[in-house]
Amino acid sequence: MTPPIDFNDRMLSLGLARVSEAAALASAGLVGHGDEKAADQAAVNAMRDQLNKLDIRGVVVIGEGERDEAPMLYIGEEVGTGTGPEVDIALDPLEGTTLTAKDMPNALTVIAMAPRGTLLHAPDVYMDKLAVGPGYVPDVVSLEMSPSERVHALAKARGCSARDITVCILERPRHEDLIAEVRSTGAAIRLITDGDVAGVIHCAEADITGIDMYMGSGGAPEGVLAASALKCMGGQMWGRLLFRNDDERARAAKAGITDLGKVYSRDEMVTSNVIFAATGVTDGSILRGIKREPTHLTTETILMRSKTGSIRRMLYRNPRAPRD
Ligand code: FBP
Repeated sequence: MTPPIDFNDRMLSLGLARVSEAAALASAGLVGHGDEKAADQAAVNAMRDQLNKLDIRGVVVIGEGERDEAPMLYIGEEVGTGTGPEVDIALDPLEGTTLTAKDMPNALTVIAMAPRGTLLHAPDVYMDKLAVGPGYVPDVVSLEMSPSERVHALAKARGCSARDITVCILERPRHEDLIAEVRSTGAAIRLITDGDVAGVIHCAEADITGIDMYMGSGGAPEGVLAASALKCMGGQMWGRLLFRNDDERARAAKAGITDLGKVYSRDEMVTSNVIFAATGVTDGSILRGIKREPTHLTTETILMRSKTGSIRRMLYRNPRAPRD
């Protein structure tokens, strides 16, 4: 096995937290205002500005979309000052645009950084995802198992009944059969309306969130971000890209993916050390949302490094206006 590449992750991590905080602060005034696009744009602008202050030679590999669709933070955009280590960047300036617009729980700003060439260049298609937290034997569950087999396998590993397992699933019509099958085992389901990066991360802190397993399809880019988080926190994750048409298959080919049916493990989505930061926009089980007070805004950020497994939770108090 080749040793992980060093990329100055210790020094860069605080900068990454600033990037994530800046995106959250920029969207603060738009929480609950019903305008997804404006909230997203504010977060994108702020994230890009802060990212360009970091001493990195960065390339966005998971971003706002293809170059012709997204003018900023598009896939392939070079970011940073142009000095420093060569890194891959995966980001979602606002994960949960609808959650933000409606002031619903678990909207986050998210960013991950890893040495160049070590993050999966996932195209913007769906991914079938499965995740569990740390402490289980390798491959305790798998994408090859049926949903009910996964519940029973996890219950056996935990030494509990299927009724004691809680599975998190995105509430979508495409998941009707999945939801019915999981319910048939007696397991509980935490349905979420959006935000499956948070959904997956919830598995890593099952004692706090009450979620043991994540299942179902969501965005592939979000899958790589979630895998980055789990690589820092511990936990297993698998993802298989799902294609609905030739255009989506062409997107995969453009991203250099040849085996369209491959199941990616967490460490195949993120092949080296990674640093990850996320800031709460709205209140959630993992992070508090932005707190607005007359003189200042406060954000909470989780900042993690896979090399050390260190997890910091940082409160940032930002004055709303210059002090006298
Ligand atoms: P946005 O922040 O881009 O709105 O994405 C939210 C999200 O819920 C993701 O967390 C998830 O992966 C994806 O959308 C699911 O896609 P769909 O809404 O098409 O089911």
